[in-house]
Amino acid sequence: MGKTSVTTALLDWYDVHAREMPWRVMPSDRKAGVRPDPYFVWLSEVMLQQTTVAAVRAYHLKFTQLWPTVGDLAAAKDADVMAAWAGLGYYARARNLLKCARAVVSDHGGSFPQRYDVLITLPGIGPYTAAAISAIAFDEPSTVLDGNVERVMSRLYNDDTPLPGAKPVFMTYAEKHTSHSRPGDYAQAVMDLGATLCTPKNPACGICPLRDPCEGRIAGTQLELPKKTPKKPKPTRHGIAYIARRTDGAWLLETRPEKGLLGGMLGWPTTDWSDDPTPAPPIDADWTAINDPALHTFTHFHLVLSVQTVWLPKNAQPNRGHFVSEDEFTPTSLPTVMRKAHAIAAAATLRTV
Ligand code: ADE
Repeated sequence: MGKTSVTTALLDWYDVHAREMPWRVMPSDRKAGVRPDPYFVWLSEVMLQQTTVAAVRAYHLKFTQLWPTVGDLAAAKDADVMAAWAGLGYYARARNLLKCARAVVSDHGGSFPQRYDVLITLPGIGPYTAAAISAIAFDEPSTVLDGNVERVMSRLYNDDTPLPGAKPVFMTYAEKHTSHSRPGDYAQAVMDLGATLCTPKNPACGICPLRDPCEGRIAGTQLELPKKTPKKPKPTRHGIAYIARRTDGAWLLETRPEKGLLGGMLGWPTTDWSDDPTPAPPIDADWTAINDPALHTFTHFHLVLSVQTVWLPKNAQPNRGHFVSEDEFTPTSLPTVMRKAHAIAAAATLRTV
């Protein structure tokens, strides 16, 4: 399968079918000389790790409205950025986002570096993101390999080597087809193809631009590819969230330590999350245990978070956390598991009133 035919077929397809995204310069505009804003591209790529384009759109818009340039983001308060990120998950990404913005300002004069090997030295930028930024924002001939590209390559070459071990092989396939005249469009074309036609369960082979050269389609193996090495099942951990409210309506919240899960995020005081958590209420009081736990799955474990609630007098002195007034309390600035716990407490309180 020739390099030119696959690359040309992909680029021709992308010229017609590129998806619109708030950070994307469409292929016709690129041909007319419009350049993407590297800050917008970087922000989108960090947000898109582990998250779909549909979920990222609104967050990208919010971030670029609040902080239109990398300098604005670098100057933002940590707590404001963490609150704006709430709901996207994988909070280490948000902490690294800020570190990276500050490094771009302090070490690179406020402009993103172009080259892969410089980008990869920045906080939160790994091989995928460095390749994506250098290709998409600067048209450097770097090759991106994300889950979409892996699926496309495994099928194109009918290669059943299991992931993640197959990554280097799939990388050599993807490199072979990388366009040197339009690297940015090529990177986005393969990702769009994987996201829209070469999908995991319902690949639209009939209308795929790579239909003819695709060895997986010819062999009829496309639904079985890519193969994956089985993952270990996730363990289940338990915890208790303490949701306390003062009679004036204020909520007791705590900023979690920088290191560890949900690091730097605002949430309810909780116990440790383990097989058998030690009760750790933030104040001695007559806590009510709610039957319904909040269920949430993290990367490496399932969490069953029991919820306990209490009303506190105006002069209550908890041993940790701080009160946030009713007016200033925004559940949307909490991580999803904390929002789930809040919803459960709110529903239980309604039942008992
Ligand atoms: N997924 C991650 N980054 C992407 C991009 N730039 N275009 C399409 N899909 C993507």
